[in-house]
Amino acid sequence: MQSFLDSLSPADEDYALARALDPARLPAHIAIIMDGNGRWARRRHLPRAAGHSAGVPAVRTTVETCARLGLKALTLYAFSVENWKRPRAEVETLWRLLRIYLGAELPEMMRHDIRFGAIGRLDVLPTFVREELDSVICKTSTNRGLLLNLAINYSGRAEIVDAVRALVEDARRGDVRVDEAAISARLYTANMPDPDLLIRTSGEMRVSNFLLWQIAYAELYVTPTLWPDFTRTELLEAILDFQRRDRRFGGLHRDPLQNTIAEPSKLEAESGDFLTIRAR
Ligand code: FPP
Repeated sequence: MQSFLDSLSPADEDYALARALDPARLPAHIAIIMDGNGRWARRRHLPRAAGHSAGVPAVRTTVETCARLGLKALTLYAFSVENWKRPRAEVETLWRLLRIYLGAELPEMMRHDIRFGAIGRLDVLPTFVREELDSVICKTSTNRGLLLNLAINYSGRAEIVDAVRALVEDARRGDVRVDEAAISARLYTANMPDPDLLIRTSGEMRVSNFLLWQIAYAELYVTPTLWPDFTRTELLEAILDFQRRDRRFGGLHRDPLQNTIAEPSKLEAESGDFLTIRAR
């Protein structure tokens, strides 16, 4: 948080917003459905690909702001399994943009101590995309700041299927206790905090198969702004809005010092609500 405040001067348009943030109640993890690139382009009579290119600066600003704020994780929905249905040229533009972005942003990731990761069924991506992803994952692996996760060829349902398959596989080798922690530990996001805040641009009121398990207790922030127009100001406004929410996690009380997710799975463990699969 201090790094962010230090990067602003009092004359900066976001200075007052930044000062209004409560550093003790920042979301640990923000997830974003970056929607509206196509509409942004259509309004300008441009090809859809131009909308995706125009979305890249918004990605850059969002990543840098989250890193400077000191958040633990930021997950961006870059490509869903359903996106393969789009025209081939558009899909290829997205891969090209991704490669350019990763190449260009590596120095910035190192400068801001960002660890890069990718989630989704990555094995079917074009080889050049996989190689670029692996290279940036490897080069940033010892960084300790923000974890920047790109969801690519991602589906929340497929992720849960993959986790259950892994669980069944593990059960062949030894006893497995089936509870929420066992599923969470086998998701692509194992060892990450669940998102506290889910932002969706372009006004659609849907979660679109994104992090279905992990957003169980996330606060939702939907803005009509199209992704290429999403600014640092709006990101700060979303975080301020989040800080005004009363997060009860199904209970009644609010602990004003604790606005991030408590462990619902602890309740499950206490209630004895689990099953054990025994290896044969
Ligand atoms: C949804 O808008 C957006 C996408 C499918 C791709 C997101 C890609 C970027 C923001 C640019 C590249 C990303 C990185 C990480 C470098 P849409 O096309 O569905 O918009 P529409 O609903 O208005 O048609």
